[in-house]
Amino acid sequence: MCGIIGYIGPKAVAPILLEGLKRMEYRGYDSAGVALLNGTGLQTRRAAGKIANLEAALASQPITGVVGIGHTRWATHGPPTERNAHPHRSGDESVAVVHNGIIENANTLRSALVELGYEFRSDTDTEILAHLIEELFDGSLEEAVIAALTKVEGTYGLAVVSSRDPGKIVAARKGSPLLIGIGVGENFLASDPSAVLAHTRNVVYLNDGDVAVIERDAYRVIDRHAATIPHTVDRIQWDLAEIERGGYDHFMLKEIFEQPMSVENTMRGRLILADGTAKLGGINLTHADLMNIDNVVITACGTSWHSALIGEMMIEELCRIPVEVEYASEFRYKNPIVTDRTLCIVISQSGETADTLAAMREAKRRGAKTLGLVNVVGSTIAREDDGGVYLHAGPEIGVASTKAFTSQVVALALFTLKLARKRDLSVVRGREIAQAMHGLPAQLAEVLASAPAIEAIAEEFKESTNFLYLGRGYNFPAALEGALKLKEISYIHAEGYPAAEMKHGPIALIDDRMPVVFVAPHDAVFDKVVSNIQEVRARHGRTIVITSRDEPALKGLIDYEIRIPETEDMLMPILSAVPLQLLAYYIAVKRGANVDQPRNLAKSVTVE
Ligand code: AGP
Repeated sequence: MCGIIGYIGPKAVAPILLEGLKRMEYRGYDSAGVALLNGTGLQTRRAAGKIANLEAALASQPITGVVGIGHTRWATHGPPTERNAHPHRSGDESVAVVHNGIIENANTLRSALVELGYEFRSDTDTEILAHLIEELFDGSLEEAVIAALTKVEGTYGLAVVSSRDPGKIVAARKGSPLLIGIGVGENFLASDPSAVLAHTRNVVYLNDGDVAVIERDAYRVIDRHAATIPHTVDRIQWDLAEIERGGYDHFMLKEIFEQPMSVENTMRGRLILADGTAKLGGINLTHADLMNIDNVVITACGTSWHSALIGEMMIEELCRIPVEVEYASEFRYKNPIVTDRTLCIVISQSGETADTLAAMREAKRRGAKTLGLVNVVGSTIAREDDGGVYLHAGPEIGVASTKAFTSQVVALALFTLKLARKRDLSVVRGREIAQAMHGLPAQLAEVLASAPAIEAIAEEFKESTNFLYLGRGYNFPAALEGALKLKEISYIHAEGYPAAEMKHGPIALIDDRMPVVFVAPHDAVFDKVVSNIQEVRARHGRTIVITSRDEPALKGLIDYEIRIPETEDMLMPILSAVPLQLLAYYIAVKRGANVDQPRNLAKSVTVE
């Protein structure tokens, strides 16, 4: 996802912009650039590839100024080249724009500008904005930006500077996050809190439709009529240290090892052991609302979709309410069965995934109540849902989601417990589940202690070209998640399957080169999994089995065993996730892959 940073103040601008862009590298990008205003006009520097290339360009040709904007681009229109890197300038070189999002009527606008004699120098949709603002400029930069945006269809988080109105940054937001960082004698703009955290904790999260005018000692939020609108100042909760790697080789490893604490934080103040229930202050659903739920839809993408599958089983098992899990990208375009008695649970670590946001908006349009399970405070989904449960997992920097997944499952368990105890779940059973949840942090620490053994297994399989992950019941989504972890960071093809389904095709893949990971803690269907393991062994498949107790039935069937503690079936994916994450991590590291920023991936997919 692209990153935006802006600064206006007394300090040297370029270093502040570069530092802010570096704080957002984890979001994924393939080019970067800055634009600065000084007394003589507008200057830009841009570079394809990593920010280090931009840094080199600035070192060889320094630029100074008192106002500046910067951008890291994740290509959507046009290849990742210097020519397509942001900022983009107007024809008269007086306006520079950085932009996250997609302009859907780009071709129409581009043709109209060409008709007016404008010459385009890039393949991007963003350049259109620069020319349009120049065309519409009549003394006020914010009024020109507002006028330009009335012609734009699509999504944007953008920042604009101009030598013709030099004392300000103008920003606008529609569908792509932006915030103002409030300093003393200086102000910031960013698409991500981490970019300004070193300077200020006080931020104003812009909403869709907001325009902001940011000056050195003042800022204002205005609407499409340039009228000032009220806004709230939030404080960023995270410390920069949380965002730094903290001594681990990679953010991903740090976040895997943070899970005892992140899971504890998700439950903090919410688990009511004595009553076997949960207290969730932000769901904004009354008792009557909860009792009125006819059906549940859970919509998400990627790893969040895997936790949704676990939530489906939890809610159906304990609340006896039908649940549908939908890929957000599918849900938003189908004709879903949603009524005012539907609860739509929206799961998203970033709170900015475009498909998930659109799916939530579609569910709301159809009358559903929406409940967001989101990690990033102040994110769009978190601010547009009807109510929510923040994961409180802390910033997840690694592109591969780890602690967010386990916290999502915990949050789903908390909600399920709360709802079930209003319906048919007894206090005795509720207490058992709550007690099991309470024990998770210690059990996670126990599982993490097996990291060296898992690294040794990774050594055995680092050259493999295919993996199969199998599980039943609650362990099937865990198998899917294990496969996704491996393929997205090691680039080894991996597939998750319900264990019994192996016979309906994938068994043809089994040979002595095929590692098969079984997520097989002891549960109600364990004996069935044993027969699946036998089928793999009979075809010389190599078995890596995650188990939870000594199992005589498995004697002679396991090549590599990973032992995890036992808990409620519905909570087992939280414990089995850790060896799956570590196996993927160590294999990827041994293959020299870029674990925190895998190729082609972004931390948050804010475009369709
Ligand atoms: C997970 O490891 C991936 N990075 C990806 O599948 C991710 O879960 C997906 O893009 C959804 O992101 P979200 O939770 O921020 O909406």
